[in-house]
Amino acid sequence: MIRTALVLAGLGLGLTAVMAQSNPIAERKDAMKAVGAATRDGAAMAKGEVAFDAAKAQAVFKTYADAAKKMPTLFPDSSKTGGETTANPKIWEDQAGFKAAFVKFEADAAAGATVANLDGFRTAFGAATKNCGTCHEVYRIKK
Ligand code: HEC
Repeated sequence: MIRTALVLAGLGLGLTAVMAQSNPIAERKDAMKAVGAATRDGAAMAKGEVAFDAAKAQAVFKTYADAAKKMPTLFPDSSKTGGETTANPKIWEDQAGFKAAFVKFEADAAAGATVANLDGFRTAFGAATKNCGTCHEVYRIKK
């Protein structure tokens, strides 16, 4: 039993690694596009352009948390250039700092995971979206 579980776990990890390597630039751009779309939804709610909806608010933070978990795995050495990437070489020079920035983004997203009213949403959304510019400023090149 234990052996089978270990073998399966090993296979699972192997597959994930292969998939992550297949087109990491496209995958990380897609993850960030989803974050961008969620941010537009969240901003409309924060500004009162659309009514507050707890499920929609929580979905914004879920998208952030999912991206924060996935993103750090999508920057293998082979993906420094190509695919119209705007990744800054600094990502590979300072992997610890880059990963830490996603840990913070994930923590701020987690803080919004159970928001139940507009005030709570505005506070958590404001804190989480501060991470966008902070990270992009350092780890993204301007095109
Ligand atoms: C810890 C770092 C980090 C955080 C936090 C982060 N991003 Fe990004 N983002 C990146 C990197 C790196 C890229 C460039 C990816 C590439 O081109 O390979 C990027 C690219 C993007 C893109 C362009 C995607 C495309 O089409 O190429 C959008 C849009 C975006 N981010 C939105 C956001 C928003 C909105 C937030 C905050 C809610 C955010 N990001 C938070 C690192 C981050």
